[in-house]
Amino acid sequence: MILVTAAHGTQARRLIPRLAAAGTPVRGLRRAGDAEEVRALGASEVIVGDAADPEVLARAMRGVTAVYHVGPTAHPCEAEIGVGVVNAAAAAGVGHFVYASVLHARISALYNHRAKLVVEEQLVGAGMPFTILQPADFMETLNYRRAFRDGVFRLIWSLERRQALVSVEDLAAVGARVLTEGETHFGATYELSSAGCWTAHEIAAEIGRLAGREVVAERLDVEAVLGLYGHDEYGEEGERYRRDFFDALIRWYDNHDFVGNPWALRTLLGREPLDLPAFLAARLPALEARP
Ligand SMILES: NC(=O)c1ccc[n+]([C@@H]2O[C@H](COP(=O)([O-])OP(=O)(O)OC[C@H]3O[C@@H](n4cnc5c(N)ncnc54)[C@H](OP(=O)(O)O)[C@@H]3O)[C@@H](O)[C@H]2O)c1
Repeated sequence: MILVTAAHGTQARRLIPRLAAAGTPVRGLRRAGDAEEVRALGASEVIVGDAADPEVLARAMRGVTAVYHVGPTAHPCEAEIGVGVVNAAAAAGVGHFVYASVLHARISALYNHRAKLVVEEQLVGAGMPFTILQPADFMETLNYRRAFRDGVFRLIWSLERRQALVSVEDLAAVGARVLTEGETHFGATYELSSAGCWTAHEIAAEIGRLAGREVVAERLDVEAVLGLYGHDEYGEEGERYRRDFFDALIRWYDNHDFVGNPWALRTLLGREPLDLPAFLAARLPALEARP
């Protein structure tokens, strides 16, 4: 049994079907949504509960041979949750812990990177076989659908800075391979990036080329992003954290490129990673049908 956390997130929605298709039993853990949505992905068991709760984690680890852990997005307790998941897995004698971290987790100015570095450190010292995956920014979460519809590609940080990207489909393929092959990947850390490094202007131009019309890049106001989060149990503390989180993110990406290298991903996939033009081209029919 493999435990996948953040079981209805961007990564798990692509990983769980791959594991299920290979005949691997999966238990999904999600916070509050519908268990049936995770079952529909192919999970044989689902736990709906807070990964910050040790009792939930102890239950989630029962009979588990491997864990694929994804930390929650822009969450004030991402590091504490990750450390708790690592400790619960080690206590349960889990045989392989795969941690979905982030490319350049060592960038301490970024809250989501800093949190992942804490979890990586705990994992490396936990005495349990582990593999760390460090993906670049996800292609799937770019605002390309709206860009195709409105002719404006919006990004929260500098339109001139370059970012390394990876398709979550490729990340899921690597996750499934690493979980299935196990020991070959014990102790490894893989940086996962496609070829190329893109400014917002270049992404807009690429979408425009496919759409057959001009698409321009425009700066997205942070308030629009913060508005997506609504209220949670962390109340004002959570809102303050997310504001600081995005302020730090914008400050860093305004002043630095986020570069990656495709060699490790190419080797693990045994083929060329999906790059942005191929990713967008594959989605073109869906975008044209439902812009
Ligand atoms: N976006 C990027 O470009 C990028 C790049 C590299 C790394 N990452 C990292 O990837 C991670 C997010 O992965 P994702 O995009 O697959 O997830 P996601 O789409 O943001 O979904 C989050 C999932 O986590 C679950 N969750 C949240 N808080 C939880 C809690 N306290 N206990 C249990 N489950 C909880 C949610 O449950 P419900 O479904 O019930 O709400 C949801 O299923 C983040 O750590 C992010 O930093 C993102």
